[in-house]
Amino acid sequence: MDTITVPAPADFHVHLRQGDFAALIAKHVRKGGFKLAYVMPNLKPPIANTDQALFYKAQLESIDPTVQYLMTLYLSPELTPDEIWKAKAAGIVGVKSYPRGVTTNSDGGIESYEAYYPVFAAMQEAGLVLNLHGEVPSNAASNTCVLNAEHAFLPHLRALHAAFPRLRIVLEHATSRAAVECVRSLGATVACTITAHHLALTADDWAGQSWHFCKPVAKFPDDRAALQEVIREGHPRFFLGSDSAPHPPHTKATAAPDHPCAAGVYTSPILLPLVAHLLESFGALDRLEGFVSSHGRTFYGFPIAEGEHGVVLRKTPGKVVEEKFIDGEQSVIPFWAGREIGWEIVE
Ligand code: NCD
Ligand code: DOR
Ligand code: ZN
Ligand code: ZN
Repeated sequence: MDTITVPAPADFHVHLRQGDFAALIAKHVRKGGFKLAYVMPNLKPPIANTDQALFYKAQLESIDPTVQYLMTLYLSPELTPDEIWKAKAAGIVGVKSYPRGVTTNSDGGIESYEAYYPVFAAMQEAGLVLNLHGEVPSNAASNTCVLNAEHAFLPHLRALHAAFPRLRIVLEHATSRAAVECVRSLGATVACTITAHHLALTADDWAGQSWHFCKPVAKFPDDRAALQEVIREGHPRFFLGSDSAPHPPHTKATAAPDHPCAAGVYTSPILLPLVAHLLESFGALDRLEGFVSSHGRTFYGFPIAEGEHGVVLRKTPGKVVEEKFIDGEQSVIPFWAGREIGWEIVE
C-alpha cells in the first residue's frame, strides 16, 4: 500500500496562539493535512466569553479561511449559565477546564468543580462539550507530582460523569494506562483525545530534552503501550487531539530559575504524516481514518462535508522534518526536527 486517502482529518485539540505568533502557527494546520481545528482558549488573557471567542475566530479566519475552527471557552468564574446559552447560539462547541497552575497560562484555572455545577448543568442541556485537562496540581503532602498527576485526577472525571451523565466530556491528551482504562469503563458520553507525541515518547525522552517536555508529561513504556493498544483496537471513543503547543524557542531552551522551560510539543506542520508513521510503527495503520477523522467527528457531531476531498498520503523512503519554521521575527521548532518520517502529503 503506497498511498492512503484520509477523509477529512480533524484535530480535536490544538493551540493556535495569538498575534504575530498565530500568523505563523495557524497556517500549519493545513500544512499538516488538517481542515478542522478544535481551538484551545488559553491565550493571554484567556478566551473567557462568547464575544472574545468570535473575535479570535475571525482573526484565525483572516489567517487561513480554509480551516473550520471550532471554538472553546476557558472555564472561569466569569462563565455563567446565561453565557453558556449565548455561546451555544454563537456556535461555540466546548469549554476547557484547566486545574489552577498545572500548565501554560492556567493561573486562572479552576480550584473546585462543584462551584461550576450550574455551568455544567447548562452545558449538558445546551449540548456543549466539557474538555478536561486531567491533572491535579503537584502537592508534596499527598505525594503528587507530574508522574501521577493524571492518575490522581481520574476520580474527578468519574464524579463529573456520575453527576452529569448526559454531558459530553473529553479527557484531553491522556498519557496513562489508568486514564485509558477509566475512560473505557465510562459511558458513551465520555471520550478521550490522544496526541501524536505521547504515542512516541516516554519519561526518558523529556528528562533532559526540553523540546519533549509537555503537560501532561509522557509516562512509562507501559502507559505508552496502553495508548497504542486502544488505537490498534479501533475504540471509537479515542481519537486524535494533537495538543500541538508551540512556544518561541527561547522559552523552551532556558535554564533561568524564574523561567522554567515552557511545556508543549509542536506537531501541527507534520501532523498527518507523523500520525501515519507512528500508527504504522505499532501495527495500527488500518485505524488511521477512525483515529484522525470519523471517531472524533462522530463524537462531536461534525460529519464530513459532502464532496469534501480526502488528503492523500504517500509512502516515502524518509522525508526529513524541517529544523525550524520562521516568519519575520517569529520562529518555532517542530517535533522530530531533522528526523525522518515515512509518509508525506501528496500536494
Ligand atoms: C504565547 C503566544 O501566544 O504567543 N503563548 C501563549 O499564548 N501560551 C507565546 C508564549 O508566551 O509562549
Ligand atoms: O504541554 C502543554 N502545552 N500542555 C498544555 O496543556 C498546554 C499547552 C500550551 O498551551 O502550551
Ligand atoms: Zn491541556
Ligand atoms: Zn492543550
